[in-house]
Amino acid sequence: MTHPDLFADEPSPAQRAAELRAQLHHHAHLYYTLDAPEIPDAEYDRLFRELQAIEAAHPELLTPDSPTQRVGGAVLKSLPSVRHAVPMLSIRTETDTEATGAAAFDGRIRRELGLAEGDGPVEYVAELKFDGLAMSLRYERGVLVQAATRGDGESGEDVTHNIRTIGQIPLRIDGAAATAGDPVPAVLEVRGEVYMRRDDFEALNERQRQKIAAGAKGEKTFVNPRNAAAGAVRQLDSGIAAQRPLSFFAYGLGEVVGDQRAPDTQFGWLMRLKAWGFPVAEQTAVCRGADELVAFHQRIGAQRDQLPYDIDGVVYKVNSLALQQQLGFVTREPRWAVAHKYPAQEQLTTVLAIDVQVGRTGKLTPVAKLAPVFVGGVTVTNATLHNEDEARRKDVRVGDTVIVRRAGDVIPEVVSVLLDKREGEPPVFTMPHECPVCGSAAVREEGEVDYRCTGGLFCAAQRKQAILHYAQRRAVDIEGLGDKLVEQLVDAGVVNTLPDLYKLGFTALASLERMADKSAQNVLDALAKSKTTTLPRFLFGLGIRHVGEATAKDLARHFGSLDRLLDASVDELLQVNDVGPVVAQSIRTFFDQPHNREVVEQLRAAGVSWPEGEPAERAPQPLLGKTFVLTGTFPTLKRDEAKAMLEAAGAKVAGSVSKKTDYVVAGEEAGSKLDKAQELGVAVIDEAQMLALLGTGTGGESDLT
Ligand code: IVH
Repeated sequence: MTHPDLFADEPSPAQRAAELRAQLHHHAHLYYTLDAPEIPDAEYDRLFRELQAIEAAHPELLTPDSPTQRVGGAVLKSLPSVRHAVPMLSIRTETDTEATGAAAFDGRIRRELGLAEGDGPVEYVAELKFDGLAMSLRYERGVLVQAATRGDGESGEDVTHNIRTIGQIPLRIDGAAATAGDPVPAVLEVRGEVYMRRDDFEALNERQRQKIAAGAKGEKTFVNPRNAAAGAVRQLDSGIAAQRPLSFFAYGLGEVVGDQRAPDTQFGWLMRLKAWGFPVAEQTAVCRGADELVAFHQRIGAQRDQLPYDIDGVVYKVNSLALQQQLGFVTREPRWAVAHKYPAQEQLTTVLAIDVQVGRTGKLTPVAKLAPVFVGGVTVTNATLHNEDEARRKDVRVGDTVIVRRAGDVIPEVVSVLLDKREGEPPVFTMPHECPVCGSAAVREEGEVDYRCTGGLFCAAQRKQAILHYAQRRAVDIEGLGDKLVEQLVDAGVVNTLPDLYKLGFTALASLERMADKSAQNVLDALAKSKTTTLPRFLFGLGIRHVGEATAKDLARHFGSLDRLLDASVDELLQVNDVGPVVAQSIRTFFDQPHNREVVEQLRAAGVSWPEGEPAERAPQPLLGKTFVLTGTFPTLKRDEAKAMLEAAGAKVAGSVSKKTDYVVAGEEAGSKLDKAQELGVAVIDEAQMLALLGTGTGGESDLT
């Protein structure tokens, strides 16, 4: 007889089911209770589906405590528990392709409702499926009295103290004002999703990184916006939640008592919630029949990357509440709703190598080369590790299994390493102290996060990037001059500087590898065409640090001609719209370098030209001679922005208040400067009044005396 251990690498269904249950319990605890998942959702779903499949094939293996038998997470111990008056359900997920998924849902609904073919389409509401956490907001006589998480669907946690910090959630509903004649019901539970916008998430993580860099203990960065939001909502201390920017979308209702004129459709309710001041996603649409659902799924799929927040799919709901009631529920899922997902934005893959790339400005970036993985709708093979500190913090090593995230048009990122999957002790990644391309010293200046190659245009990598930057469509647009060609031209030593491009002849091009005569001629034609350009394109193409397209346009408009710009002082540059001290200095430094001047002259000599004009009218300087002091946090402007605007209008911005100060602009949490101003009798104004003085506010004249 064979000993069963010999088959240890082929577990029996019972063993595998037990293994999966243990893993799923572990990961569910990390996810729901600790808000600190170690694996992507897609991986959790795979394990979950594997267990479901085993249990379906072997019903005798099903245990009552199997994770497949539960709806949500466990309830966190430390927050008070709340029993939901109406359970918070989950939605069935349609995994089919978009056309068959919507058709299958529509088909089921029609069957359940006993509709025949000639009966006309069913009306649905199509909504976004927000990737945050479900919340139930209870209003009694219009006042927010309780906010609860979903928990296991029957009871959740009381998080009222944290939810009150979310500005988008009304603390009181003023029904009379918003919807005349529709009084707010005595009891109203609004259900929706608390989430974090992607930009807020990036800013939060940036702040966290700074805290960590400054040596703060117990701080961490967040894996994704949903976990950052969940962590904030479940804080015991509302002071912490208040510092984490959260947002909300309403999508449904719980208990409603005492409403005589309740809407009879989902859409009607959403519109009423909107009128009461709850955020409702503008994409929400009424769709008739399966075809319109498919079109919605496609339309939103195309917009997904541009949305300011993560969604993981769309939700279709039967619009009529009467029909919803007729359709009812199966276990914990309504028959009248279905979720239709998009490709996951986080996946697992392995690190094949860690390369260091050299950018146009010499910046060295560590990049993880990955086993190809389909994430966020594209196949990803590279993910940036940003810089030395980030690479060290994440401790990514060759051979590691990592979570890769790609959300929106944000570049793919390694979120974290699955340490239990690491084999052996692969070496820790270190940044090279020489440029991997040209061998020049790579240095990290004090206070900077990046290493830079000091080779300048001696470095082939920087030369190549500079040429590609100049040739790109948004700059002078040399069609056909792509990576491969530039690579060959620079490596062969044929092109070293931008003006060399215009010295290229047919023979030089045609003799390159894989270059047909016709393509060589096309490149020459494109080069000739690029000589007729515009000043903003040319300026942008030069690749001056901090001068993007918008700044290039502002510079061109302001100065009208290149020569006027070449000779502009830092002070004159500061007069340009949106140009601050860093940008002004960068432009000046660029044009002070003789070799950059030479490049500009040679390009002009080669025939690159653009129409020039007169300088723009000098901006009026209504605040010339006035001195301002800024203090506190302003509602819309950053301190630097306010300063730049005042300076552009001719004002001086000082750091401390004295008798010479004309105005103190005070924002939220203004400190001792405000006291000093009051003591000295200096005029104190707010941001709006400052904008009025600048002539950019809503009101014309200010009423300051
Ligand atoms: S309706 C009766 N609508 O998806 C159906 N849920 O499993 C109750 N979600 O965690 C939910 N966007 O928070 C509904 N437009 C939307 C949604 C949505 C996101 C979340 C919900 C829950 C999960 C449902």
